[in-house]
Amino acid sequence: MNMQISFLGRTLPTPLILASGIWGTTVSLLTRAAQSSCGAVTAKSCGPAPRAGHVNPSCIEWGGGLINAIGLANPGAEAEVALLAKAKRELTPLGVPLIASIFAGTYAEFGQVAATVAEAEPDFLEVNISCPNVGSEFGEPFAGNPESAALVTQQVKRALRPTNIPVIIKLAPNVPSIARIARAVVEAGADALCVINTMPGMVIDLESGQPILANR
Ligand SMILES: Cc1cc2nc3c(=O)[nH]c(=O)nc-3n(C[C@H](O)[C@H](O)[C@H](O)COP(=O)(O)O)c2cc1C
Repeated sequence: MNMQISFLGRTLPTPLILASGIWGTTVSLLTRAAQSSCGAVTAKSCGPAPRAGHVNPSCIEWGGGLINAIGLANPGAEAEVALLAKAKRELTPLGVPLIASIFAGTYAEFGQVAATVAEAEPDFLEVNISCPNVGSEFGEPFAGNPESAALVTQQVKRALRPTNIPVIIKLAPNVPSIARIARAVVEAGADALCVINTMPGMVIDLESGQPILANR
């Protein structure tokens, strides 16, 4: 059965796209997802510097899916370039586009990380402005209001101007009006939207009365 779709000027073999997360941390996992019918694959988000993320337990299967607070563990954009470049070489013969994913703490850093990651020539760049698990460090996510979401979008689009890499902005679910934020990032130049990032939640251990994930 032909399941091809057209997305941002590219043909994807299937409409199923691997979301950014733990499967996007190695070349072999990204390739395995591509060989298992994904039409495009997204790498784990990387930021300006290496981060260990939160201590364990940081992800559990609770019976209705996964709940996670990984805390943006990543090797940093410089190291990620090598992973992305290798992944691109493996994925190109399979006809499966690679989506790089970035996050940052300031508008300027978003531009810098985008420019660094672009060296690996990913097919698309996704911008994670919506991670809910790092509030104590980064404050309100950039996806929390239309102005900050649009400013990040402009910054990344400007940084990628010398390339043809389309920009996907990843939105947060827990906002008063996702439509207003979506419209703002589209007007700021976003080529596509990724909807949605992690839904905030908490699983409590009834014996101890404590949340199970270490990041509370
Ligand atoms: C363990 C785990 C790690 C994740 N890491 C990232 C990440 O690095 N960057 C990102 O943009 N989203 C990340 N996500 C969010 C997913 O990409 C996805 O947006 C979210 O799980 C909602 O989709 P779902 O309801 O299909 O799970 C992560 C999710 C999980 C469960």
